[in-house]
Amino acid sequence: MKRILITGGNGLLGQTVSRLLLQETNHEILVTGKEQYSVMDRLPAHYLQLDVTDKKHMRDCIQEFKPGTIIHTASNTNVDECEHDRDKAQLQNVNAVEYLAESARITGAHIIHLSTDYVFDGEKAPLDESAPPHPVNYYGKTKLASENVLRGAGIRYTIVRTMILYGYGVDVKPNFALWVLDNLSANKKINVVVDQYGQPTFVDDLGYGIIKIIELGRTGLYHISGSEVTSRYDFAVAVAETFKLNMNLIQPISSDEFHHAAPRPRYSEFVTQKARMELGIRLSNVREGLSILRKQLEHRIYNY
Ligand SMILES: NC(=O)c1ccc[n+]([C@@H]2O[C@H](COP(=O)([O-])OP(=O)(O)OC[C@H]3O[C@@H](n4cnc5c(N)ncnc54)[C@H](OP(=O)(O)O)[C@@H]3O)[C@@H](O)[C@H]2O)c1
Repeated sequence: MKRILITGGNGLLGQTVSRLLLQETNHEILVTGKEQYSVMDRLPAHYLQLDVTDKKHMRDCIQEFKPGTIIHTASNTNVDECEHDRDKAQLQNVNAVEYLAESARITGAHIIHLSTDYVFDGEKAPLDESAPPHPVNYYGKTKLASENVLRGAGIRYTIVRTMILYGYGVDVKPNFALWVLDNLSANKKINVVVDQYGQPTFVDDLGYGIIKIIELGRTGLYHISGSEVTSRYDFAVAVAETFKLNMNLIQPISSDEFHHAAPRPRYSEFVTQKARMELGIRLSNVREGLSILRKQLEHRIYNY
């Protein structure tokens, strides 16, 4: 049995990995989050309020709990906010990782850190773990900087890059699939870009990948994403079909018509062979992931 500390425990991945660890393993887990309470009221694990930018509290918490593994999901994931408020993005996405690494150096903890396809510019594909990064927005720059903190920290670490996460979590920031689902269910029209491509990643697949990293003690860099490249528009249509909603409410637009404060890579495709071979995980395509999500919502598996 290992001791595992999770940061960002109220976020989509934080909730998912907590749920899967509790369901699938007998590890002792400590879920932490920025908020005073866990959003999962009946979570059968300890919860502690921990802001990862509070260096002293982080160190005290890690020295007291002595986790063998820290799964660091906490991050400022608001890409446009990161573009505007660069100091905050730097603090949440880079300095917090420096504080974690300092504590892990003292206790010997293994850090599993989440990063993104936004460390790339979307000009070349497919991208394996040796592809040279070139971020086009500040969020991507902070995530690349956070990776480099770990590379130079002299500790045991695993970096997992992923993209377009979707799935259900209690009170999470709406991910693309939930946003489409909510709007179409309310009979609202949505505009969706046809010329931005990526591999939507079902969050449970990523959660299982992280569990395998822990079980197998894997370090280094892994790309984990869904098995299929799709445009945002086709992904929205797949949501409509899976949940039997009106796809005529989805209006195709080009990304030139849609203004974002931060530029986005137009095309992201990962080579996931290393993760599939070394971790023995299967990565769902869009319809497989959405079907599981539909069943999960029907059976209310999130009713903590
Ligand atoms: N979502 C994606 O499509 C995607 C794609 C590629 C990579 N990733 C990476 O995957 C990881 C998990 O993403 P996610 O989708 O689970 O994001 P999420 O749902 O936004 O969860 C992140 C969590 O971190 C929390 N947080 C932010 N600042 C914090 C702080 N100072 N102290 C403690 N907690 C803090 C957030 O709380 P608040 O909401 O209250 O701020 C939120 O609960 C992140 O590292 C992200 O960069 C995500």
